[in-house]
Amino acid sequence: MSNASAKQKLWGGRFTGATDPLMNAFNESLSYDKRMHSQDIKGSIAYSKALFLGGIITEEERDNLIRGLEAVGEEWAKGQFKIQPDDEDIHTANERRLSELIGPLGGKLHTGRSRNDQVATDMRLWLLEEVETIRSALIDLISVIVERADKEKDALLPGYTHLQRALPIRWSHLLLSHAFSLNNDLERITQLKPRISVLPLGSGALAGNAFSLDREFLAKELGFASIAENSLFGVGDRDFIIEFMMWASLTMTHLSRLSEDLIIYTTAEFGFLTLSDAYSTGSSMMPQKKNADSLELLRGKSGRVFGNMSGFLVTLKGLPSTYNKDLQEDKEPLFDTVDTVSACLRIAEGVIATLEIHPDRMKKALTMDMLATDLADYLVRKGIPFRETHHISGRAVALAEQRGVQISDISLGDLQILSSKFEEDVKHVFDFESSVEKRASIGGTSRAMVGRQVDVLRNNLALARQA
Ligand code: ARG
Repeated sequence: MSNASAKQKLWGGRFTGATDPLMNAFNESLSYDKRMHSQDIKGSIAYSKALFLGGIITEEERDNLIRGLEAVGEEWAKGQFKIQPDDEDIHTANERRLSELIGPLGGKLHTGRSRNDQVATDMRLWLLEEVETIRSALIDLISVIVERADKEKDALLPGYTHLQRALPIRWSHLLLSHAFSLNNDLERITQLKPRISVLPLGSGALAGNAFSLDREFLAKELGFASIAENSLFGVGDRDFIIEFMMWASLTMTHLSRLSEDLIIYTTAEFGFLTLSDAYSTGSSMMPQKKNADSLELLRGKSGRVFGNMSGFLVTLKGLPSTYNKDLQEDKEPLFDTVDTVSACLRIAEGVIATLEIHPDRMKKALTMDMLATDLADYLVRKGIPFRETHHISGRAVALAEQRGVQISDISLGDLQILSSKFEEDVKHVFDFESSVEKRASIGGTSRAMVGRQVDVLRNNLALARQA
């Protein structure tokens, strides 16, 4: 590259030597930060207005800057923006094009501004918009789960701990457990917003704005909730990106666990669910196969999201204060995280909306030994301490096992050998529906309590939609 070319760079003034072409390619971020083109233009339009209010440019110059910036924005929107070899990033590309369109006036735009406060502003504006989109995808996913749960309260299936059959529960109860995790994610992403919505613009390169520009005006103009009160923090802080990626990691953990449940339940061995064709794929070799690829990808993609978060944490750790070029490494992991989590939320919504349930298969998986706890509870209600009733019920389970019968097949006479408190009404214990209905405290699996969970989530969703 020639000397002349080095001089053409926006920062070329002090340089006499040319940049190694490899270094140019290594240094550039335009190939990915161009997705912030509209935020960059928006920030510059607000900055032009602040320059006028601060007496740095005339009204006419402001209007010409704004018109020029809008024209550059149009070119991006129409896919007509022509990237030049020396365009290093979205900020230099937009400024270069602006000056081509409106002449030397373009060179006034950057007065008192640095790419350091500019990039931090663009990133925050960009992420705030994405957070809104992600929030509504999350709201839609939770709604789909809640509405399904409301309709499918009749279906009972084994509830598992340690993946061993434990107690009968309602299918809706299980679905809602995932909705509650996601509901926490909804609460958390909403809480991130005020910490993202902090204006860095006007921090300059690091020490503050030398032209006394009105940062309160800038914040208002760009819709920021508050202003970075310390300019060194303004240009150097990327915690909002880490926080978002932590949020995404936890949300992906929830999608992954939900997927794992569904993957298990769609196997022939369980057969509780059938994934719709729309979210399954076949095998290139085994014609009979229908694979739960959508769910496996939801589970698998959590790994890259965690990786994005931990990778960028490592980048941040040990950086000296304020801006260092290392910070350019914030973009790819953030963009990938936003894209991944957005896609996953939409796919999860589609999977849940189209899933087919098989209540008979669920019911068939219920076995009478799963009511051993209810048998112990029966004796508790007759006044025996639970520790003893647990033991008695355990002996009934052992007896059934030994005889190769169901626990409900043991005669009253035989039960009475284990405890004299067993009476005729013990037969009512051996009913899955009544077992489930006994869990009628808040949070339980009874119909009413599952209905309450539906109500709680519906209320939360209605509030979240307004926020
Ligand atoms: N492309 C850069 C980034 O993404 C913009 C800021 C550059 N600032 C600088 N002093 N070189 O971080």
